[in-house]
Amino acid sequence: MYSIFWLMLLAYSTLVSTEKFTNEGTKSIFILAGQSNMSGRGGVVNGTWDGFVPPECHPNPMIRRLRSDLTWEEAREPLHKDVDVNRTCGIGPGMAFSNWVLQRDLGLGVVGLVPCAVGGTDISRWSRGGRLYNQLLHRARAAMHGGGLIRAILWYQGESDTENLGDAKLYKGRLEKFFADVRSDLKSPMLPVIQVALASGQGSYVDIVRKAQLEIELPNVRCVDAKGLPLEPDGLHLSAAGQVQLGRMLADAFLQIMAPLPVSSSAPKRARNFFSGLFRI
Ligand SMILES: *[C@@H]1O[C@H](CO)[C@@H](O)[C@H](O)[C@H]1NC(C)=O
Ligand SMILES: *[C@@H]1O[C@H](CO)[C@@H](O)[C@H](O)[C@H]1NC(C)=O
Ligand SMILES: *[C@@H]1O[C@H](CO)[C@@H](O)[C@H](O)[C@H]1NC(C)=O
Repeated sequence: MYSIFWLMLLAYSTLVSTEKFTNEGTKSIFILAGQSNMSGRGGVVNGTWDGFVPPECHPNPMIRRLRSDLTWEEAREPLHKDVDVNRTCGIGPGMAFSNWVLQRDLGLGVVGLVPCAVGGTDISRWSRGGRLYNQLLHRARAAMHGGGLIRAILWYQGESDTENLGDAKLYKGRLEKFFADVRSDLKSPMLPVIQVALASGQGSYVDIVRKAQLEIELPNVRCVDAKGLPLEPDGLHLSAAGQVQLGRMLADAFLQIMAPLPVSSSAPKRARNFFSGLFRI
């Protein structure tokens, strides 16, 4: 009697684990969207990526990436290489985010990343019906085909809207509309959105855009602040180290929505100390 039970359990778990990697079973899906800092320029100097991948961004069999041809593969930096095709891509926040979220093991299962960011794009280019918006929806829906739930959108954009006063003033309304439209079109009215407040920018109207980002008050929309994160020598993009820090901030903000516990305090540090202790031996 008991042995039949264990045999069935074994058969079931074998079925489940093979399915996960061949048929690409249920995933926790995250959409990465915005402009260059989300796409990732960490380690890119003078148009060349140095190829250095920080340990926090290393591949992990539990992290998959939706390629531009809508098939899945094991995720590796640069995550946006076949999406943001006209620029040199480097380290972004996506891998550090995923590794950190998985370390907390909230039963998310396989993480499926859906890169959609494109450098140099202002918010009006992300409006409903536009090419970037449609591509985001198309990729998000394709990602759900194999089974899976979109857990959040990670959004880092705004630099291109700091250049003229008109755009800066319209930014808050346009951003709120973008979030509302995506949630509505994905039929997920409470879909978590974690967005990043710009620290500085090329344009004269950074403060207006930044204020808009920080002031948005919608349910399940959180804002993390990029102020103080290290930049590349060009002063225009987050460095790889900055992206690692940002990935962790985005993860903490997401985990606060998932499980409203004090995530940034003792628990993750203990886990990290435990692992680094192991490796030091
Ligand atoms: C990048 O280009 C600038 C100006 O051309 C040069 O001074 C600098 O040394 C270059 N940096 C690297 C890392 O190649
Ligand atoms: C890349 O550049 C081409 C030619 O200018 C353009 O048609 C295409 O939309 C660009 N792709 C992206 C992702 O920016
Ligand atoms: C990248 O992010 C940094 C920090 O928020 C910001 O100062 C910079 O303007 C951003 N660059 C672009 C091109 O978005």
